[in-house]
Amino acid sequence: MSFEQLISTASLGDGTKPKYQSIAEDLAQAILNGQVPMGEKLPPQRNLARRLGVTTGTVSRAYAILENQGLATARVGDGTYVRSIEHVPDTLQTDDRLAPIDLAHNVAMVGNEAAALKVAFDSLSDDAELMRQVLSYQSETGLRRHREVGAQWLQRFGLSGQWNRVMVTHGAQHGLACVLRTIARPGEAVLTESLSYPGLQSLARSMRLQLIGIETDDEGMTPASLERAAKTFDTKFVYCAPTLHNPTGATMSVQRREAIAAVVRAHGLYVIEDCVHAAIQAKPLPALSTWLPDQSFLLSSFSKVLAPGLRVGYIEAAPTWLSKFAASMRADSWMVAPLLPEIATRWIETGEMETLIAQQRKQTTERLALAHKILRGLEFKTDPEFPLIWVPLPEPWRAGQFAGALRQAGVLVRTADHFGVGRSPAPQAVRISLNAPANTELLETGLQIFKSVIDNPPVIFMGRTSW
Ligand SMILES: Cc1ncc(COP(=O)(O)O)c(C=O)c1O
Repeated sequence: MSFEQLISTASLGDGTKPKYQSIAEDLAQAILNGQVPMGEKLPPQRNLARRLGVTTGTVSRAYAILENQGLATARVGDGTYVRSIEHVPDTLQTDDRLAPIDLAHNVAMVGNEAAALKVAFDSLSDDAELMRQVLSYQSETGLRRHREVGAQWLQRFGLSGQWNRVMVTHGAQHGLACVLRTIARPGEAVLTESLSYPGLQSLARSMRLQLIGIETDDEGMTPASLERAAKTFDTKFVYCAPTLHNPTGATMSVQRREAIAAVVRAHGLYVIEDCVHAAIQAKPLPALSTWLPDQSFLLSSFSKVLAPGLRVGYIEAAPTWLSKFAASMRADSWMVAPLLPEIATRWIETGEMETLIAQQRKQTTERLALAHKILRGLEFKTDPEFPLIWVPLPEPWRAGQFAGALRQAGVLVRTADHFGVGRSPAPQAVRISLNAPANTELLETGLQIFKSVIDNPPVIFMGRTSW
């Protein structure tokens, strides 16, 4: 039987699985049963998509699965052909291959952390006195040595390097919770970018804080919009990410930082500055907090540049504030478990931290190059040191509809809605996380499917959508 005949009988499943999976399974079965001979050319993706009433991306993903399973092979510029089934392992391990390709989660890529951890734990276990110290209760703000080395680390953002301005946390989200619980009261307003970090939004919901979205441009929050909001709302707090903003990748210039700092000073506000993504940069711009040493709380962590499981972060603020945050820490968990900051501290001291982060930068560069190649012709925003891409969708796509079509084709992304603050409409845009796929092959397939779906929008007939 040829594929053309098979296609008319191809089922799209009963809706319990994604369509690409049902198509891949039907075609795989036909090849394995010998219904389709070796060497047969699979129909062009566009034709098959049209006949099945699905997107081209759905068919691309189904073909990619057949390729992964060794059942088909793609010839550049020609098409996809059935392979000899001798290539196929006895039991097809389909689970991983059929799982959606994750371009949604924002997670640091895997580097040489395992080897570095072994070295750190080996040398730590040789030091009985230090072992005793890190396995015991410690001050709420962290061990003095951890704070000193943390302060040294934060000098990359232009900060003072004073250890008594630094407190160790279980990552930036924990730091944010310590700060907000100390400074804000239920019902208070917090100003932030109109698209903002979802962790802030969860915290605001749980604390009953009201988030107010501030207009942004290519450099992030605009001073005029911040000024307007400061005059309109009864608030003292601004949360923002001036460098490599998540999700848009925007970075404020020095002039913009000066202008925002001037508004903050004029209205007696406090800034909670998120530097989590900035830590990947080889030479970050001075933090906004350097203009506002007494009106700022800077949050940093190693989650986005190393591994979220390390769960180590810092708050940098005036010492009087830190003693207040210590009360929040005490109420939560007495202290941060000192074992993990000990690992981070050693890595900073030995230079291993810089090496591991340089690996992330290198992988980011490679993955970005792949994205620029595959997404050629599409307008998107990115930064050479940022593993996230912001894609304003071309007409006629709407973000929810596009993400749905992409999900059917086996690829996950985040829509702008996920980051939207309040009820103002989010733009028709999506975020791609280049760092989420486990390897570049998966990323390549994911990006190809993304491109094929975005290039083949639905045709709208009298208000009804058809593919
Ligand atoms: C902008 C931003 N800030 C903070 C965090 C949380 O970082 P951590 O894992 O250190 O709590 C994230 C994680 O997604 C983030 O994107």
